[in-house]
Amino acid sequence: MTAPLATHISKADDASIAEAVRCLAAGGLAAFPTETVYGLGADATNGQAVARLYEAKGRPAFNPLIAHVVDLAAARALARFSADAERLAEALWPGPLTLVLPKAAACPVADLATAGLDSIAVRAPSHIIARAIIGGLGKPVVAPSANRSGHVSPTTAAHVLADLGGRVELIVDGGPTPVGVESTIIACLDEPTILRPGGLPREAIERALAKPLMQPSTETAMADNAPLAPGMLASHYAPRTPLRLKTDMVAVGECLLAFGPNLVPGSERAMRVLNLSERGDLIEAAANLFSHLRVLDGEGANTIAVMPVPHDGLGEAINDRLARAAAPR
Ligand code: TXA
Ligand code: MG
Repeated sequence: MTAPLATHISKADDASIAEAVRCLAAGGLAAFPTETVYGLGADATNGQAVARLYEAKGRPAFNPLIAHVVDLAAARALARFSADAERLAEALWPGPLTLVLPKAAACPVADLATAGLDSIAVRAPSHIIARAIIGGLGKPVVAPSANRSGHVSPTTAAHVLADLGGRVELIVDGGPTPVGVESTIIACLDEPTILRPGGLPREAIERALAKPLMQPSTETAMADNAPLAPGMLASHYAPRTPLRLKTDMVAVGECLLAFGPNLVPGSERAMRVLNLSERGDLIEAAANLFSHLRVLDGEGANTIAVMPVPHDGLGEAINDRLARAAAPR
């Protein structure tokens, strides 16, 4: 765990917006209002900042995050837009609508932010303060609701302070958020499907599309035994190569996903070794998790052997994802 931070609340003005931009650019965490709820922002392209964000929220697992941008042009650098997605963004952005789309090949968003998935959630918020901060940074900003995991989404700066005080650098206070519930999430991977009802009514979306939205199939919703609940509908990243957890020895034909300064015996015969964090730092390990798995998955090994990762702090979320990636399919 990192030392508590000195959190301060600043009334939204040019100075506090500039400070939030500097904070994000330096890899820090800044909470700010959007039209839906307060978001906890981090530079989406900085894996370590994203890892710190999960830690601050106390997320027991890495749920994929929404990348916030100022407009459709900026979103095109992150995701591929179908004709339907294009129509929705043209008609309803900026606003309380999140689109889940195929990730663009050159998408600069950190793998940890999308939890290793090939899809990405993007949204252009309409709130003037959110827009000033995202535009000022000039990069996508990931921003989950600014509450501790399992708590309700905050609609005032005081709610954010109560939940995240001492865990983030800065809270920009722009008063109560006008919409008060999270954005509506629509997946445009196939036929447009509603994943989470939210601040933008279904009717407005169906009008823009000129057709009805699909409901997620129970099969999708029940994948990994996830309950049929908003936020649980993203399937998990799974490498093709089988994983062997809590490895204490590397066998021939295996790659090694290491952790810490001391490698397990047999590591010299591994086809390839990647270390999540040589110095045993769980924030660094989280930032490397999905990208290292992807690289090792491409080595043609028969197994990816994984060294034990401690269970404290972000280790719980890292172990959760490793266990899912290792589960038989
Ligand atoms: O209104 C909002 O959307 C607020 C403000 C701050 O913008 N943000 C927000 O973020 O509600 P969060 O992280 O609390 O919720 C994002 C939801 C999660 O339930 C996550 O599972 C889903 O979006 N999500 C993100 N990426 C996804 C993906 N690739 N596929 C499916 N669901 C995804
Ligand atoms: Mg949330």
